[in-house]
Amino acid sequence: MISFFVLLLAVGVVALISSAFYKSLALKDVPGPLITRFTKIPLLYQTINLNRTRYIHELHRKYGPLVRLAPNEISLNHPPSVGPIYNYEKTHFYNAFEAYGAKNMFSTPDRARHSSRRKLLGGEYTKAYMLRPENLTVINDRVRQMLKNISEINHVDVFYLFNYMAQDVISGFFFGDQNGSHLLQGHDIEVFDAWHMRRETFHWFAELPKLTNFLYSSGIASLLPSWRDAAAAEQFINDMTHKWMDRCDPEKSHLLTKLLKSDLSREQISAEVMDHMGAGHETTGTTLTFMVDHLSKNPEQQTKLHEELKNVDLDDFAAVDKLPYLHGVVLETLRLYSSIPASEPRIVPASGVTLLDRFIPASTVISAQPYSMHRQEEYFERNLEFVPERWNEPTASAKTAWMAFGKGTRGCIGQNIAMVTIKVAISHLYKTYETSKPTVLPASENMDFKDYYMITPVNDTCSVVFRKVEHGEKC
Ligand code: HEM
Repeated sequence: MISFFVLLLAVGVVALISSAFYKSLALKDVPGPLITRFTKIPLLYQTINLNRTRYIHELHRKYGPLVRLAPNEISLNHPPSVGPIYNYEKTHFYNAFEAYGAKNMFSTPDRARHSSRRKLLGGEYTKAYMLRPENLTVINDRVRQMLKNISEINHVDVFYLFNYMAQDVISGFFFGDQNGSHLLQGHDIEVFDAWHMRRETFHWFAELPKLTNFLYSSGIASLLPSWRDAAAAEQFINDMTHKWMDRCDPEKSHLLTKLLKSDLSREQISAEVMDHMGAGHETTGTTLTFMVDHLSKNPEQQTKLHEELKNVDLDDFAAVDKLPYLHGVVLETLRLYSSIPASEPRIVPASGVTLLDRFIPASTVISAQPYSMHRQEEYFERNLEFVPERWNEPTASAKTAWMAFGKGTRGCIGQNIAMVTIKVAISHLYKTYETSKPTVLPASENMDFKDYYMITPVNDTCSVVFRKVEHGEKC
């Protein structure tokens, strides 16, 4: 009897490997490690161990601009080809961003549904809308509160500070000025820890959804404390999102009003709101964290920023927006410390596609990653150096390869609010303060990145010392 089951198992394994190998024959011309012809396991292993982006980057360095990651999956590191690829339909990976059992703009694979959701909210995310006085007020108020928190204590963990600020901005914008979170004032801060805990199982849900759901439904997951905490965190965020939604007057708020007046169900609306609350704070918070860490370690670049800001009226955002050095610092941070450096998987359509003289068949999973695109020597001179000046007159190549906000129809809808928030925050900070790293760093600090698709510093902490500059404005 036992030998029958062993035989059955062996047949199953051979069938699986042969089917994977058969699929990979179609990708036989795409270079990559031999094992990726048979199995996705090396990619899964690297992903779950928070090393996916660096692993794929090393594969590109070894095998070139097109590399096989798994029997049915490839990565592309060729800037001119990425735009059209990123318009292809999304894979099941994005199901991990669903909430309340409903799809949102980000997770919806269907192009028509995505486009109607994007149309519904797109108007409120334009730069012109963002620059309306009532929206700039939301950003300015939160930035002023942030400066106030710094002036009370000059040695600061900026990772928390910037994430709190970004959460308060996006929720204030979404629900109306007086609603949403007030983390900078010490309210609702548990939500931030919840966002963190929830990430523990992200890659499992994204890569192995059936297994992960089984582990939860069978109760096995609850034996692992971090998985139990992740589920509790998810519930906490769901409840908090509803709390924010319910306490705001739909007639006075902006984006929420749009959603409430649409034909979407409460679950669909909640899923949309939750995604914007998550995407809207972690990315901006991480970008500011790495930016200020970099400037604190590079005083000569910080001095250039101080000089540029000296004579600017910070109430005139149009003037701040035009500052070339500030602009360059933001784009360089997004280039070398992209808060989403990872690949965004898409599916090759029925017609297939020819890339770099190789035919890629329908249904192949394909992606590109900003981390690798942004480090290409042919596209960025002094590719690994932080050079804000390169953006004064950027080359066409640099513009093609820069993709911190993605590309094509699925590119970041929040990029205007992100850019405005980052510029307002940095201009206020460096008009008022000089920053440096503490002489003795806390043992927990490690500014390498943890690769949860969105990144954070390892150990989620970044210490910075603030000292008022002589010409700084009093806040
Ligand atoms: C520095 C800040 C940010 C970065 C680096 C960033 C990056 C990205 C990237 C790379 C994508 C494309 C994903 C893909 O191709 O599948 C994206 C999409 C998206 N982002 Fe952002 N993002 C940032 C800020 C924000 C903010 C502030 C919001 C506010 C709500 C936001 C909301 C979204 C949404 C809803 C999508 C999905 C768009 C769609 O599917 O049409 N992001 N973001």
